[in-house]
Amino acid sequence: ARRLVTPQSLSGRKILVSAGPTWEPFDPVRFITNPSSGKMGYALAAEASRRGAETHLVSGPSVLCPPSGVRFHGVVTAEEMNRVVSDLAPAMDAVIMAAAVSDFRPEKAAPQKTKKDSNDLTVRLVRTPDILDGLGSRKPAGQVLVGFAAETENLLENAAEKLVRKNLDIIVANDLTQPDSGFRCDTNQVKILFRDGSIEDLPCMTKQDVARRVLDRIESLFAARER
Ligand code: CTP
Ligand code: CA
Repeated sequence: ARRLVTPQSLSGRKILVSAGPTWEPFDPVRFITNPSSGKMGYALAAEASRRGAETHLVSGPSVLCPPSGVRFHGVVTAEEMNRVVSDLAPAMDAVIMAAAVSDFRPEKAAPQKTKKDSNDLTVRLVRTPDILDGLGSRKPAGQVLVGFAAETENLLENAAEKLVRKNLDIIVANDLTQPDSGFRCDTNQVKILFRDGSIEDLPCMTKQDVARRVLDRIESLFAARER
């Protein structure tokens, strides 16, 4: 007989997905950001929820609608995302950082709109916290931690280095020079790197299909850890 319901391969699991860009303001109407749409992270959250996981989506500003069934946590800045993600993470079976977190923020945000005849037009930038690095250093036993790597050169070397440095189990490497891949596209061409050095080199596919592949790999790690 044909199945009428999707198998609930992740029921009983808790999964956190971060998505979208962050906005780092320097006055009430202006901010530093990047072209992230949130599509990859929202696809991951939708698929995790479809498979039965209690799914938390922590998202920076995005025009997308939260997928049905997910617990949605809207944030704006990297510092806010860090607080929300770090609070939720210890209870999660898997954390997937798909967000394009801004690496820099303006040192100060003016309380009022900067007027165009202002005589100080310099914006000084400072680093934001590396959220994933913090999660890796405090990772609970058995948790699966997944990062993304957005690169314009030396894709595999840079991604492998982030996998080890941030204490991840999986990193999804995104080559930003590929057409139909990365920021704002509906498709993505990625390589999935694992802690044992193995690499899965995927062709260009929809972000929904990439989400399925990533969750299949997370499920395999859960199964291996229970053996
Ligand atoms: N990340 C994060 N917090 C930051 C920056 C990045 O949690 N402040 C996460 C991203 O969500 C992603 C991973 O770290 O999962 C790698 O992001 P990426 O921008 O590729 O690497 P960075 O470590 O920020 O290094 P760089 O941008 O200099 O290549
Ligand atoms: Ca970065």
